[in-house]
Amino acid sequence: MSAMERLATGLRSDVCGALRASDAQRRVRLAGWIHRRRDHGSLVFIDLRDRFGIVQVVVDAATAPEAHASLAEARIEWVIAVEGIVTPRRPGTENEKVATGAIEVSADSVRILSRAKTPPFYINEPDAPIDESVRLKHRYLDLRREPLRDRLLLRSALVQSIREVHHDHGFVEVETPILIKSTPEGARDFIVPSRLQPGSVYALPQSPQQMKQLLMVAGFDRYFQIARCFRDEDLRGDRQPEFTQLDLEMSFVDEASVRSFVEQMVIEVTQRTRPDRPIQQIPFPVFTYDEVLERFGSDKPDLRYAMELIDLGAALPASTGFKVFDDARAGDGRIRAIRVPGKGGVARSEIDELTERAKRYGASGLVWIALQPDGQVRSPIAKFLSPEAIEAIWTSTGGTQTAPEGDLILVVAGERVLSAEVLGRLRVEIALESNMADSEALAFCWVHRFPMYQWDAETGRWDATHNPFSAPVPEHVGLLATSSGDLSRRSKEDPAGGALAQQYDVVLNGWELGGGSVRIHDRDLLERSFALMGHALDDARAKFGALLDAFEYGAPPHGGIAIGVERWAALLANQTNIREVMAFPKTQSGSDLMLEAPSQPDPKQWSDLGLAVSPRPGTPRP
Ligand code: AMO
Repeated sequence: MSAMERLATGLRSDVCGALRASDAQRRVRLAGWIHRRRDHGSLVFIDLRDRFGIVQVVVDAATAPEAHASLAEARIEWVIAVEGIVTPRRPGTENEKVATGAIEVSADSVRILSRAKTPPFYINEPDAPIDESVRLKHRYLDLRREPLRDRLLLRSALVQSIREVHHDHGFVEVETPILIKSTPEGARDFIVPSRLQPGSVYALPQSPQQMKQLLMVAGFDRYFQIARCFRDEDLRGDRQPEFTQLDLEMSFVDEASVRSFVEQMVIEVTQRTRPDRPIQQIPFPVFTYDEVLERFGSDKPDLRYAMELIDLGAALPASTGFKVFDDARAGDGRIRAIRVPGKGGVARSEIDELTERAKRYGASGLVWIALQPDGQVRSPIAKFLSPEAIEAIWTSTGGTQTAPEGDLILVVAGERVLSAEVLGRLRVEIALESNMADSEALAFCWVHRFPMYQWDAETGRWDATHNPFSAPVPEHVGLLATSSGDLSRRSKEDPAGGALAQQYDVVLNGWELGGGSVRIHDRDLLERSFALMGHALDDARAKFGALLDAFEYGAPPHGGIAIGVERWAALLANQTNIREVMAFPKTQSGSDLMLEAPSQPDPKQWSDLGLAVSPRPGTPRP
């Protein structure tokens, strides 16, 4: 059966977008939406649309009076069925921009299947700006528009490739439950009250983390899932409360073998889905967490442009004559710079704005040095700096050779991590604003060797940097032994704080695409790690008892990763918000404007659950 025959139904023999010159003289039945309509007296032209494309239908009152009459009332977005002959267009009237542009269908029968109100926005103008809330309220209409439809098709192709590649590599697809117990991934849980056990709740999975590890203990060897995840956290362009992960786990692996499979899979899936977009570097560059912080001021570096951070410390003379620099160096601080090519003629207002941003991100200020093409230096601090200091800055940031328009050097002096992060943010923003990135390039990289734990000054304890099940790198296993489970003995000075994890992120064009790790598969070591993070033994057993118990029945060494499907699809579709690859996303405040969720439950639902809502303290009763 041909692809076309598989799409035929009782109402249609063909789909609108597939007809070509080779179909001329065939009698066809089509069904779809009226995309456009042009009335030329006795001739009516309809652009008929379905999700496969658009075809021109012409109805002539002279040869098909009944069909012509049926169309008298029809308006855009009405659903109709037509029958007629595929006819080559007259020379000069072909439309090369449309795949079906060589032909039209001369219809002799038209049937109205469904009428439509005038839509709140034009479906047939893909570039028209439309208010976001109107789009979300009428998402089923927005989804009819070409750009969003194409992105959903791209996402479908992506997921199809993911499934194919995993099956080819011996993975088993397993669906894990949605009503579970808390699986911490750093966000709040969404919880669902139980009717059968009043007062108890299920948590929706933030990820299937524990279940996939239990599947490894169960011997499935290689698992994957297109998994729905739920996290009650603030929304951003790359974050929704409900999203999808490609979640996978593998047994008998070390870090290198997981990364090697994932890299090969990511390349294969990406190339199948977007064969037209070049992958910048294969194999993916691999950085340690420390290295990306130093070089890019971020743990998710965008490698489509250079502008790396430069530590000026070693090159500058011990005393530069400029207090901000000298003070930073007296402590544990750093003096870091980026050199922005072509910005030597920067306007004062632009500098003020950049300084404002740097301060908002936590820097005490921003130093700038503009290098003019003629070798002149413009900088408010030029008068404080010694000639050797200026010379050192020039040399370390790339020498006196500037772009034809001159270069701009931005310097932040301050605490080690903060100074890097501030410049890292400016680097990304300036690149974006100056269109430095090749918009077609796909620049993947790995970041690994993250610290196992980070000290939380508020709670006075160590927290997992990523997830609490990650294993330390083999040479740091011993550091965890320092934690005996005696909570009173933990401190910021605990040597385990220096342990690195077998944790890795895959990064694409400046977004964290996915993250994973090799796991601890030994009960004692996992309990020690939990203890270090401030979980009393009882508490750890209450939270993660199933996993701890399972590890006593023969757990294989295992590891895996989860990749955000929306992020992957959005980046492949060149979008900056994952909403643009989701059929029915939520707004900033977590609402579904179309379904009007969340909503007040029926009072009976509350009482069935044994629940009542009391106003928040301080909120007046209605
Ligand atoms: P992590 O929490 O890093 O790891 O999540 C993995 C990937 O899921 C995507 N992601 C999101 N996408 C959209 N909206 C969100 N709110 C959101 N949160 C996360 C990101 C992210 O990189 N269980 C571990 C994985 C593992 O260790 O195997 C986990 O969930 O693309």
